[in-house]
Amino acid sequence: MKNHLLSTLLLGAVLSGTAIADEAAMNDLEIAHTAYTAGQLDIRYAHLALALSEDDAVREFASLMIRDHTAVNAEAGALIEELNVTPQDNDLSQVLVKGAAEKRAEFVELSGKAFDCAYAQNELGYHQVVNQTVGEKFIHWATVPQLKSLLEDALVTFKAHEAHAEQMVADLACAS
Ligand SMILES: [Fe+2]
Repeated sequence: MKNHLLSTLLLGAVLSGTAIADEAAMNDLEIAHTAYTAGQLDIRYAHLALALSEDDAVREFASLMIRDHTAVNAEAGALIEELNVTPQDNDLSQVLVKGAAEKRAEFVELSGKAFDCAYAQNELGYHQVVNQTVGEKFIHWATVPQLKSLLEDALVTFKAHEAHAEQMVADLACAS
């Protein structure tokens, strides 16, 4: 229930940010910052899962998140270096950071199946929100071709994560 609430809140924050941003879309440096931040947060969630979960499927998913998001963020870092620019912190990055800190505080109190379900459901909601934002907003707003292309490639990976998270939630048969 709480997971759904957070997803809804995050989505609301993303959408309200979007309503403002429809008049003035986020710039490339803000998009880069937010995409990078979202990846780093998923990596932090994954480290928590590896520390707290004993479920093989959950641990495998967490390892995949660390591997894939580390790779995408390394590419983003290389692009940032190549362009010699500094990503800009922004409201959406802040919302993601704050939401994830609150989630982690909840998660460390959990163990066993309660943790696995909370983590899995959050991963599903998180990827849904991030993927919607990347797919419907960031890719269209990005003006630097290399950034647009990086986001397009990353979205393919992130959509696979979303599908994988959906399967993980189903397999865990968590009470909703
Ligand atoms: Fe992911």
